[in-house]
Amino acid sequence: MKILVTRKLPGKIVDKLKELGEVVEASQKNWQAEVTGVEVIVCCLTEKITEEVLEKAGSQLKLVANYAVGFDNIDLEACKKRGILVTNTPGTQGDAVAEFSMMLVQALARMLREADNWCRAGNYEGWDPELFLGLDLTGKILGIVGAGRIGQIVGKRLHKVFEMPVIYFNRSRKEEWEKECGGAKKVNLEELCKQADVISLHVPLTAETKYLIGEKELNLMKSTTILVNTSRGPVIEEKALLKALKENKLWGVALDVFEAEPKLDTDPKDNLRLVDFKNVILTPHIASGTIEARDEMGEMIVQNIEAIIKNQRPPYLIGGEK
Ligand code: GLV
Ligand code: GLV
Repeated sequence: MKILVTRKLPGKIVDKLKELGEVVEASQKNWQAEVTGVEVIVCCLTEKITEEVLEKAGSQLKLVANYAVGFDNIDLEACKKRGILVTNTPGTQGDAVAEFSMMLVQALARMLREADNWCRAGNYEGWDPELFLGLDLTGKILGIVGAGRIGQIVGKRLHKVFEMPVIYFNRSRKEEWEKECGGAKKVNLEELCKQADVISLHVPLTAETKYLIGEKELNLMKSTTILVNTSRGPVIEEKALLKALKENKLWGVALDVFEAEPKLDTDPKDNLRLVDFKNVILTPHIASGTIEARDEMGEMIVQNIEAIIKNQRPPYLIGGEK
């Protein structure tokens, strides 16, 4: 089995893959040059798996194993047409992303980033009752956009810890989870934007979720709303967000993902930039980045490839079956 790993990965995954076959370790810059003749591509969200890549790889390609939960980087239809299977890694990295999202909610509520910067700049001269007045979270309304696995963890935990009533926007009802959140309510997106004090985004990026949060939605939010995005950048229309920030329409926004990632700004010439707002926290797509989560992602990739070798159905199959 010839396995291409498109870029350097942490932990023991490559050692384990070497027990399964011949491993080609590419650097992220030249991975496309190495694709011809491989049977498995282990790729990350930074690699676009297009029709062209599949063509270049050749007809022996059996599996595209994505080292991520989200798979908007892969043309599933093109894989399906060719009978190439596609897998992802839906493991405990969900907990890592959920924990990170919850931390961002708390950091925004209490202006953690700003307070720290202010101390480091040598400003602290004594206790002051007016310093960095934040917002309570206890009892505030939590709006979950996308009640899949990760959205459900965030909802359940924030409900337990801060007694937050939960409302959610999702295609289907999630009745079991509603109960776990003390009676979460499914609402439409408008209602969610109007009512929620905290909004956390957990939808996959698809044609329907691109720009799900745009000018209209942002205008419905409260001036005390906390908005967190650890899903995919284009779920928020960044231009509309910048405008809302300029008009002080939100309490704070945390972005782990960006519309033009890895660029922070969609339009570098625009005079509005995310970095200019004090109430914005920016992180470099690290929500799933824990040692434990990365180890498990590697483990899941190995299991998917082992199944292919044994002619079995990979455990974390998401598509490609004809
Ligand atoms: C990270 O963004 C993932 O989809 O796993
Ligand atoms: C997504 O999680 C959905 O069921 O709509």
